[in-house]
Amino acid sequence: MMPNSYSVSLDRLPSTDRVDLTETNPSRCGFAYPQELTRILAGPGILDYRPDPRGLLEARRALARHLTVSGKVVEPEDILLTAGTSEGYSHIFRLMADPGQAVHYPMPGYPLIEYLVRLDSLRAVPYRLRGEVGWPIDRGRFEASLSRDSRVLVDIRPHNPTGTWQDPSTTAWMLERCAEHDMAFVSDEVFLDYSYDLPPEPIRDPRVLSFRLGGLSKTMGLPGWKLSWIVMEGPEDVLAEARERLEFVADAYLSVGTPVQTALGEILAFAPIIRSMVLERVKGNRKSLENSAIIGLGWRVWQAQGGWMALIEAPPGDDHDEGIAEMLLERASLAVHPGSLYGLDPGRFLVISLLPPPEIFRMGLERLAETLGSIRRTGAP
Ligand SMILES: Cc1ncc(COP(=O)(O)O)c(C=O)c1O
Repeated sequence: MMPNSYSVSLDRLPSTDRVDLTETNPSRCGFAYPQELTRILAGPGILDYRPDPRGLLEARRALARHLTVSGKVVEPEDILLTAGTSEGYSHIFRLMADPGQAVHYPMPGYPLIEYLVRLDSLRAVPYRLRGEVGWPIDRGRFEASLSRDSRVLVDIRPHNPTGTWQDPSTTAWMLERCAEHDMAFVSDEVFLDYSYDLPPEPIRDPRVLSFRLGGLSKTMGLPGWKLSWIVMEGPEDVLAEARERLEFVADAYLSVGTPVQTALGEILAFAPIIRSMVLERVKGNRKSLENSAIIGLGWRVWQAQGGWMALIEAPPGDDHDEGIAEMLLERASLAVHPGSLYGLDPGRFLVISLLPPPEIFRMGLERLAETLGSIRRTGAP
């Protein structure tokens, strides 16, 4: 893989005067994590190694309690722990598909999914989200892309970077396609805790084998603790086989560390504190963005239902996202992502993280408005 000119410029910039609105690692965003969290992993029993490919039962029980919401019970035997959501994807791909078979995933979207699919020698088939309010799936194009080799349909709720999710009738329609084509449904819910209002309806279709993904990297803002989960659902016979085969895949790696599993119940007790701390940050920064001077320059902030990212769209004529992102870096030491990195319509979008501390975020917005204003005046890039 070759670095593009943007990543080369980013690497060259001294970090002292840089404002980074691409930072999505919560551990680098100045959050005041509860002090007790740092002591949890030092509990008794962390030296004891009791390998279990599905994850320690006590950890899965704690997680099942945490994930059970009214009307939707999660059982420990339907959970498999992994060392990160990416690993969870990979286990599912290996379970469901043979080399060359197809995984359908949303585009625009976080670039990771395509790489994961290809690393497992599967065929990455993006399905288009239409660039209008709510980013609905383009049903016609999606149906046309289905084939006998279609094995997995990935949906991301809330989606990264649009922060939206498909409405209940569209989700039901997608599940219907899964039932028809014998595809598994993967619901990536890593950002579910960061729904701004009510979360999306839980997915439900008793005919479809489905996998919900989540993890401590987002739920606890602790990407370095490397614990994620898969929650399985489906017709009992299919589910029983999936459980057994996933266990076989996981047994080959046994990748989740014991200390984090042993402490999972205690860790999750802090989830509400982390959630409200991060949500407050994200909502506050979003408000600053919506009130910033870029609006007066004709830029549009896209509405979202959740997540850590924001999309801003250039007024007609100013579009050239990579040129703008490079200019922001050179002239204002400000890092933002060009939308094309996420497969957004070339040229129209910039993507920014809502996680940085508010004072840094506002400084970034000032630099953004100043530089976009000067680009407007001079007509560059
Ligand atoms: C939508 C989505 N899914 C999965 C991941 C990977 O999560 P993890 O850090 O748990 O591997 C990310 C990372 O940001 C993501 O944005």
